Amino acid sequence: MRTVLVLNGPNLGRLGSREPDVYGSADLDDLRVLLAEAAPEDVAVDVRQTDDEAELIHWLYEAVDTSTPVVLNPAAFTHYSYALRDAAALVTKAGLQLVEVHISNPHARETFRHTSVVSAVATGVIAGFGFDSYRLALDHIVRVG
Ligand code: DQA
Repeated sequence: MRTVLVLNGPNLGRLGSREPDVYGSADLDDLRVLLAEAAPEDVAVDVRQTDDEAELIHWLYEAVDTSTPVVLNPAAFTHYSYALRDAAALVTKAGLQLVEVHISNPHARETFRHTSVVSAVATGVIAGFGFDSYRLALDHIVRVG
């Protein structure tokens, strides 16, 4: 059984009720169901969320230590967390896939969202497709490892 870690940053625990005009009305449990259904039988999808930068960083260490690919929605940390960026770099430098995802398209929003300090160390970025951003990232990881 292979595992894919799907890590979500701050305020994404409020999906469902948070700005539904931007993020939709589905919550993280809906995302779990969607990804479990999309994954092949031999792939376990471990969806987590934290508001805590240190916890998110430690989950990226865990990905390195267990050779587990990552789908990462860094949420607002995307735009300013060099600490998260450095931890994400450990994942890709270890030869593991790390796909940065966003539900919304940050480039179509406020200027501060146009910068991602994570993208340069990610394998790739998928943004603007709602929860489909995660499914597309998972499809890629399932195909290439
Ligand atoms: C987000 C976009 C970020 O700008 C924002 O801070 C989030 C969610 C997205 O998934 O669209 O919390 O990462």
